[in-house]
Amino acid sequence: MIRSVVRGFGSALPKRVMTNREMESVVDTSDEWIVQRTGIRQRYVAGEGETTASLGEKAARAALDNAGLTADDIDLIILATSTPDNTFPATSVDIQNRLGMHHGFAFDMQAVCSGFVYAMTTADAYIRGGLAKRVLVIGAETFSRILDWTDRTTCVLFGDGAGALILEAATGEGTTADRGVLTASLRSDGAHKEKLFVDGGPSSTGTVGRLRMEGREVFKYAVGMITDVIEAAFHATGTTADDLDWLVPHQANRRIIDGSARKLGIAPEKVVITVDMHGNTSAASIPLALAVAAGDGRIKRGDLVMLEAMGGGFTWGAVLLRW
Ligand code: ACO
Repeated sequence: MIRSVVRGFGSALPKRVMTNREMESVVDTSDEWIVQRTGIRQRYVAGEGETTASLGEKAARAALDNAGLTADDIDLIILATSTPDNTFPATSVDIQNRLGMHHGFAFDMQAVCSGFVYAMTTADAYIRGGLAKRVLVIGAETFSRILDWTDRTTCVLFGDGAGALILEAATGEGTTADRGVLTASLRSDGAHKEKLFVDGGPSSTGTVGRLRMEGREVFKYAVGMITDVIEAAFHATGTTADDLDWLVPHQANRRIIDGSARKLGIAPEKVVITVDMHGNTSAASIPLALAVAAGDGRIKRGDLVMLEAMGGGFTWGAVLLRW
């Protein structure tokens, strides 16, 4: 049996940190409101010359270094993003070129905040189907470029950044045999489009558009949807919350994360939280959180790790893997 095993990880953040205090000079808000409602204390904002491609490239290079590999060893790049540098070509192909990689293939995936769990699931399917041996899975975003900076209900929530994982085919018995992606549960339902969307695009308005969200409406659905896909992943593998070493959620809002973990009976000390440092970086938030928790030694080889996300569309999903 072929398994997709994590071989390396990396991340990249823009140079500029923007604190909640700085937000107070942009819109009518307060550090206290933002922390209490969301858990966010600061976010990173891309400056001149920093784009989804440049952040994605940096995260990819960090993951290759961490794995002891070069771009020559990769045969597929999947980039999860809703903020590509251009409408086309795909930003993943730009990253491929920046890495000096002129073999193999690359494509972008768009599932907003669920992009990274969709991309992991796709990478796993390519590997298990024998179509790729090593896949660079990147989540990279520059949401600061699609925010309405006059709308306090959205602009305080998001940040920019990138994270990457390398998944590698492993076969047979031995040390890697029980590691890797174990299962995934993905969902989408376009009936919820108006609750979270960008009000422009190449085919509808010919403009880039700005993010619009009915936050309270999204909140109402989030915990139920997240816990459904996590329970499906537990069910498919015969595991339970007690078996889990780490929950690495999409970092949208501390209250959603805590509410989901509580409902599932996952102990708070097993939950990786980075929303305080990064804000909501959409498809980049899970690989950024993984890079933090694997980088500081919390997530160790053999740990059972659940990834989950919910976002625009709505899209939602969970991936269970043994690190
Ligand atoms: N600063 C100060 N006050 C604010 C701010 C702000 N930045 N934003 C809103 N308020 C005010 C509102 O105007 C409102 O005032 P009112 O009572 O006088 O009308 C009050 O605060 C409460 O507003 P609510 O929207 O009810 O606040 P809520 O507790 O729901 O928190 C939040 C808002 C943080 C957006 C929350 O609803 C949320 O996190 N929703 C989910 C968002 C999410 O998870 N998205 C994930 C997907 S992201 C993706 O896919 C791209």
